[in-house]
Amino acid sequence: MAREWGLSFRTFGYLVLVAFIMVFTFGLLWHNSHRFQWVSSVNILCSNLQLQNNYEDIQKDIKIQRLFDEDPSSEVNVKFPRMVYPKPLAVGPPSRTDVIVMTPWFAPIIWESTFSINILNEYFKERNIIIGLTAFAIKKYVVFTEKFLKTAEEYFMVGHKVNYYIFTDRPKDVPNLPLKEGRKLHIIEVRNYAQWQEVSMRRMEMINNYTKTKFIKEADYLVCVDIDMQFSDHVGVEILSDVFGTLHPAFFGASRDSFTYERRSESLAYIPPDEGDFYYAGGFFGGTPQEVYRLTKACHEAMMEDKKKGIEAVWHDESYLNKYFVYHKPTKILSPEYLWDNGMGSLPILKKKRFLAVPKNHAAIRSNDRK
Ligand SMILES: *[C@@H]1O[C@H](CO)[C@@H](O)[C@H](O)[C@H]1NC(C)=O
Repeated sequence: MAREWGLSFRTFGYLVLVAFIMVFTFGLLWHNSHRFQWVSSVNILCSNLQLQNNYEDIQKDIKIQRLFDEDPSSEVNVKFPRMVYPKPLAVGPPSRTDVIVMTPWFAPIIWESTFSINILNEYFKERNIIIGLTAFAIKKYVVFTEKFLKTAEEYFMVGHKVNYYIFTDRPKDVPNLPLKEGRKLHIIEVRNYAQWQEVSMRRMEMINNYTKTKFIKEADYLVCVDIDMQFSDHVGVEILSDVFGTLHPAFFGASRDSFTYERRSESLAYIPPDEGDFYYAGGFFGGTPQEVYRLTKACHEAMMEDKKKGIEAVWHDESYLNKYFVYHKPTKILSPEYLWDNGMGSLPILKKKRFLAVPKNHAAIRSNDRK
């Protein structure tokens, strides 16, 4: 009896040992293969590891997983059809010699004749992306909505899926225009603020709030613009990138010391005189929802901190945007073709005027703001 039990114990011991070795071996194999897959997919999906980190930051915050969960291979699957076009030059004169088309951190600056829209369209078509265009029609600015939407239908992201996100306190005054297939109007009712400066600054907070609850589920890229504008030439997928800004039409040729950055060191928008690359316009920026979330959050929080101290940066939201871009370099930059005011005339380097300020009487539009 005792001997039988002894044998049984020894057999049992061997079995436990074998089971342990098997579990350990399979665990190790699984762990390695899993880790290997994770690393390789990150390399393919993301232009840099930073993006993955951003994504995880935000995921913790908002628990939404659109881009990677629904179609983790969306970028890997892109395959170009047969296309016929002139061979790109590896050596030889560049297409533009009058402007800089690349920043020192290798972000492209988008000027006419530096890109092939056919190639880019194929790429983004294959990815079946949705572009969200946000604009604010607060108070009297609602009068700009019709021209804005009509011209966007004609020139903005033609052939791609577009969600227009019009923030307004006057939803009844937003015209219900017929839209082309794949394009939808979302009217987002928001409150207004007494002063135009505050209306302008709160845009960051509102974009941030709705990116978190809505845009991240509905769009692959966000384009955030002013509404007192009209599209007057092609604005397409060439602008899309992780995070992009636009050269302000009044400052693209200017020196650093003439930029209207916030120069009071008490403000969180402060930029020291020996820093800053460009002066970016507050009226045209964008990127992936993840990046726009980070940007708008940073700008809004800095504004609120300043507000507590009784400071408001010299150019409101634009000052905070410029500060953000000093330390978070845009991955693409749009030339002033994408934000022009005819009051500034024409220039030989400006081969296209794609998005133009609608002439308006600032005083008339803004004086009624306090109603
Ligand atoms: C944004 O969201 C926060 C938190 O939910 C809220 O307190 C705030 O009022 C919202 N801001 C705007 C402008 O809607």
